[in-house]
Amino acid sequence: DQVQLLNGSKTNIYTYQTRILKAENASVDKLPGSYLGPVIRVKRGQNVRVRFKNQLPRESVIHWHGLHIPQEMDGHPMYAIDKGGEFVYEFTVNNRPGTYWFHPHPDKFTGPQVYYGLAGLFIVEGDEKGLPDGEYDVPLVIQDRKIDADNQLVYLDGGRMARMQGFLGDRILVNGQPDWNLDVKKGTYRLRILNGSNSRIYKLAWSDGSDIVAIGTDGGLLEKPVTRPYLMLSPGERIEIWKDFSSQNDGEEVQLKSLPFETGSPMGGGGMMGGMMGGGQQQTPNGTAFDLASFHVTSQTGVQKELPAAFAKHKTLSPSDAVNANNPRSFHFSFERMQWVINGETFEMMGVADWEKVKLNTTEVWEFINGGGSRGMGRMGNMMQMPHPVHLHGLQFRIIDRDVSGMNASVWESVKDGFVDQGWQDTFLLMPGMKVQAVMKFEDFTGIFVYHCHNLEHEDMGMMRNYEVI
Ligand code: C2O
Ligand code: CU
Ligand code: CU
Repeated sequence: DQVQLLNGSKTNIYTYQTRILKAENASVDKLPGSYLGPVIRVKRGQNVRVRFKNQLPRESVIHWHGLHIPQEMDGHPMYAIDKGGEFVYEFTVNNRPGTYWFHPHPDKFTGPQVYYGLAGLFIVEGDEKGLPDGEYDVPLVIQDRKIDADNQLVYLDGGRMARMQGFLGDRILVNGQPDWNLDVKKGTYRLRILNGSNSRIYKLAWSDGSDIVAIGTDGGLLEKPVTRPYLMLSPGERIEIWKDFSSQNDGEEVQLKSLPFETGSPMGGGGMMGGMMGGGQQQTPNGTAFDLASFHVTSQTGVQKELPAAFAKHKTLSPSDAVNANNPRSFHFSFERMQWVINGETFEMMGVADWEKVKLNTTEVWEFINGGGSRGMGRMGNMMQMPHPVHLHGLQFRIIDRDVSGMNASVWESVKDGFVDQGWQDTFLLMPGMKVQAVMKFEDFTGIFVYHCHNLEHEDMGMMRNYEVI
């Protein structure tokens, strides 16, 4: 499809063509001037039916990232349909109100399909009172891209090293547009931010020096707002923030930026391992500073709301409910045999190991470790560490511990104030040397679901596994 991107010239990208047949309690809006898929807004409890016709040149499937739905509807790669094929998704939305999204998920080709434009927002609405709405409720999908002189998107032109570390572009697009900016009134806004990049991590901060007020995470509103000087947002994650522009000056430009940080990866800066992988110096490695989005404060007075002191209480899910609280399952994300692996293994379409089988209606603690842990390959694995955004399908979990004792101190120092671990998550950033424990409950559906690194090139190279609820 032809979409306008830069300087009025056209670029070739994939788009979701949406036709609404019937949408009770739902709306399907287009982000203005964007190549991205629609913003689907539904009410919690609603049934959704989406007919997917695959007009891509190869197989694909739609995954509803963050939703708690049955195996057949979740977009596991085993359900990829061939080009020309059709599949009807039908499910009930039971998730908490919040910001979810959808994107393709075929084995080995998720990265390019998302890169070339296929991603959209899926917003679940509920009875959230007192929050900015209408024009004050603004989605921001942040993606990095590389655009050539003919205005075409360029994907992975940097050889083996570029693929090993994941795609990193030098242009930031927000909602599918470069140099994104928005006129805002002097009022309060709810910004729903999705990191829809293939592998770029952002360290979000305001240019006016104010703190960031987070009100929601992947799985909806927090119990109460959380204030941070900056926020780390890895690929696949969402964060909702509250911004009050009412005391800003007329004509002021407020930037949402990404601050520099260290990744702890020897590949990022083109160091020794970079050389070994056959790559050169990456010009915009992860951790590069960027301006992301610009808010132009007009003289108009807008709706001004009071930041609520608290939101609805969450249902409790605690490690003491877990069948293995003192003996968590462990999952090592590392580099072995020149591959990105989880516990030494790569993706097998239908393969489920014993250590990936869980029982329906049980609560478990899982521990995720960034670093080698099998087959005596730990040392090499640790030389090749990179941040991995870890994502589980099918459920929302709670992070109960981030152990940073194995991390490089200056790397930790550069990111440590950026985590909001108080909410429900389906994706989180696992930095080199870090150990994260999460508690999760397997309920309602048996079946096979994937968990993987949401660096989409890592996922495509096999840093993905199945877990099975039996
Ligand atoms: Cu957003 Cu399995 O992915
Ligand atoms: Cu997902
Ligand atoms: Cu990864």
